[in-house]
Amino acid sequence: MDRELNPFKPGSGLRPPALEGRDEQIDSFDLLVARSKRRNYDRGLILTGLRGVGKTTLLNTLADHADRQGWLTIGLEARPNDAGTSAVRAKLAQELTVGLRRYSRTHRIHQLIDPLLEIARGFSLGVGLGPASVTLGGSSRALAASGDIDLDVEELVEAIATALKPRGSAFGLFIDEMQDLDSDLLSALLAVAHRAGQREWPFFIIGAGLPNLPAVLAEARSYAERQFLYSTIGPLPKPAAEAALADPIRRVGGDITPTALDILVTASGGYPYFLQEFGKAIWNVAADSPFDDDDAHLAVEVGRTHLDEGFFPSRWTRTTERERRYLTALANTGLEQAPSGQVAALMGSTANGASDVRNSAIKKGLIWAPEHGRIAFTVPGMADFIRRQPVD
Ligand SMILES: Nc1ncnc2c1ncn2[C@@H]1O[C@H](COP(=O)(O)OP(=O)(O)O)[C@@H](O)[C@H]1O
Ligand SMILES: [Mg+2]
Repeated sequence: MDRELNPFKPGSGLRPPALEGRDEQIDSFDLLVARSKRRNYDRGLILTGLRGVGKTTLLNTLADHADRQGWLTIGLEARPNDAGTSAVRAKLAQELTVGLRRYSRTHRIHQLIDPLLEIARGFSLGVGLGPASVTLGGSSRALAASGDIDLDVEELVEAIATALKPRGSAFGLFIDEMQDLDSDLLSALLAVAHRAGQREWPFFIIGAGLPNLPAVLAEARSYAERQFLYSTIGPLPKPAAEAALADPIRRVGGDITPTALDILVTASGGYPYFLQEFGKAIWNVAADSPFDDDDAHLAVEVGRTHLDEGFFPSRWTRTTERERRYLTALANTGLEQAPSGQVAALMGSTANGASDVRNSAIKKGLIWAPEHGRIAFTVPGMADFIRRQPVD
């Protein structure tokens, strides 16, 4: 088929040709937005799930909805380690400035927004990451520029939210890969969201991240558990997975037989990233339409090769030798969720002896602990990929 017309888009956060199976989350978010217009404020939303399941895509979609309903929306992607911390803080300050300017232009409310822009410019979250180093004098200091992260975040959010409230608008902070947010900024944000709830400031955190995110939040603030509506994003149920493939194909003038569709959906396990990869492959390998079983089998093969060259190694190559040994041991248990002790034993260690490598792999977002003493991959299909690797 004509490659130019290929509608499928495997890739991180790329808008899919058909966003299927997420009505529940979209509806509950739209309700939150609608209620906020009436100054009925609900809890923010946290989306969690494995890699490639569609969290970033959904988060962006929700931000678009909020934008269209007149919210001030700021997007942020957290990153691990210290370098990530300062980059993310700088980015937050910058995004705020950009977001406020855009908001003021779209809504023609310069008088309201200009003073907030001043504050956003002063808000740099002390580029140094240690305790406050800024010593500005007493009462004349600028708002949100004390160098104390808790205070600055709170002053900033209060100023923005109280300015937007009379308009029935709200301030939405959309944070992707939220499990990687540095703990000081995370605690400050959770605290201010908590306060916002009590004081009825229209400020909402909408977060997305790996399945360990709820645990990370609970560790940062004990009340985080009650602070959000938590929603698990999983693989698509069969009808949604079928629609995610068949609708885009038909929209650009192709077709696919029911059995061919079934082959692709089954091979994908309903995972959106795999659906996009297999969809793209069948479009490219099929000589003509409708796509049949032969096309589907070939597409699965081609699609898997692509995954083995991109999706999987992008994580695998970032590991240390010892992490690789740990992940290989986990893959070799053959279990969805393996007891940590068993994984450690397979690499010739004890649970205690392997706890450092286990923790570093968790920090890198490769694995997570579904429950105490158990461990699982954050990437669907990762175990099979590892078992396919040549042993060196
Ligand atoms: N609901 C969906 N239906 C079909 N395709 C989707 C859906 N959600 C995401 N995708 C596609 O899946 C891939 C992975 O999405 P992404 O949002 O990056 O996942 P995650 O952030 O969970 O790793 C992208 O190519 C995207 O276009
Ligand atoms: Mg993502």
